[in-house]
Amino acid sequence: MSENKELLFPDNFLWGTATASHQVEGNNNLNDWWAFEQEPNRIHDGQVSGDACRQYELYKEDILLMHELHQNSHRLSLEWSRIEPSEGKFDQKAIDHYRNVLETLHKYKIEPLLTIHHFTNPQWLRAKGAWETEAVIPYFERFTELVAREYGDLVRYWVTINEPMVYSVMGYVLCAWPPAKKSPKLAFASATNMMRAHAAAYHILHTKAKLKPIVGIAHNIRIFDPANPKSWFDKKVASMQDYSFNEVIIRALTEGKLYWPLGSGEIPGAKDSMDFIGINYYSRDLVAFNLLAPKLMFGRNFPSPEAELNLFGWEIYAEGLYRLCKRMSQYGRPILITENGIPDDTDEQRPRALLDHLEAVHKAISEGIDVKGYYHWSFIDNFEWAEGYRTPFGLVEVDFQNQKRTVKDSGKLYAEICKSNRITPDMRKGVKPRSATPKKHFNLYTYGEK
Ligand code: FCB
Repeated sequence: MSENKELLFPDNFLWGTATASHQVEGNNNLNDWWAFEQEPNRIHDGQVSGDACRQYELYKEDILLMHELHQNSHRLSLEWSRIEPSEGKFDQKAIDHYRNVLETLHKYKIEPLLTIHHFTNPQWLRAKGAWETEAVIPYFERFTELVAREYGDLVRYWVTINEPMVYSVMGYVLCAWPPAKKSPKLAFASATNMMRAHAAAYHILHTKAKLKPIVGIAHNIRIFDPANPKSWFDKKVASMQDYSFNEVIIRALTEGKLYWPLGSGEIPGAKDSMDFIGINYYSRDLVAFNLLAPKLMFGRNFPSPEAELNLFGWEIYAEGLYRLCKRMSQYGRPILITENGIPDDTDEQRPRALLDHLEAVHKAISEGIDVKGYYHWSFIDNFEWAEGYRTPFGLVEVDFQNQKRTVKDSGKLYAEICKSNRITPDMRKGVKPRSATPKKHFNLYTYGEK
């Protein structure tokens, strides 16, 4: 990477962090994740989200801290279950709460990027099968109408739905998330219904929101490379995984069509229903053909043996972000990096990973690719779903005993980058090099063996 050059980002680049309601707000027992957490053996070490970061109360302090750290944008999500705790009954206090949050962001000149759905469902919706059937669509439409009416004067950037594929695979294939119901059929149905709902929401926002909206989804794109680039079988399996996890979603929302393995036919309103492509990027897998793994399309996935691994046991592969920006640029719309980060309990790897990934983004921009912003996952340490609290992703540490926030080295580094709109050689000098001792890690690849 270009260690001796100063890398300047475009004017008005969006420098932000990302969070999701259930992971940071705390003490909400109205959604399906809360119910799931109460069941035995669901979350690492029997943890529950509990207080999380108590951001429902502490949002003003947190937003002030974002401002002090020079972030000019923030991605957050609405908690549907708070706003509509039972079917058709809306809670005005919760509606007002998010208005206050958005107004506070504006007070500090922090541009909100608002996610309407980030994994959690109201319990009443879960009881109806959540995203398993098309019945969800009118509910999501009604919710989006409310959201467009209530917040359309404060929000320009919208993510309708976070990671349809991750939601479906984790819930119905790997069964590590609610409803932990093994059924590839329901996985495909859920992902498809999310795209139908996205298309409907796209048009609702465009007709009902007061400010001209810029709407997309946040799509988790993982890189799948053949373990042996000379093996026809490895190449085939890697490209099948890539196609069905990454490509079908983008195709559906640009061409308006459903492709195998999701289905066939048109999705009404889905053609050209993304004003930007939102990339959530974390890692890449090497994929080897394996007859014994039909669930993963006959692939065995693992990190490259030379790679530096993070606390998840995933490869830290910054070049991947450049490759994805380049690949997604073929669709001819602006790109937002809606999430990128690493789990790191000691913050030893994060500063370097941050610089490397941002350099990858810069490389794409310098080649003419229209990347409009970067949202680091995450602003603060938070409840990491089935991993509980053991895999902190924050630029800011949270002491969960007393809710004290402490900015980590990575957070200070990111603040300098946000403030100066550039990466300088001095910043690079200040970060620790890769350690000779591999990081002790969990092995999240074992999900596939459950
Ligand atoms: C993404 C999710 C986000 C967080 C990060 C680590 O897949 O969107 O909520 O869990 O991973």
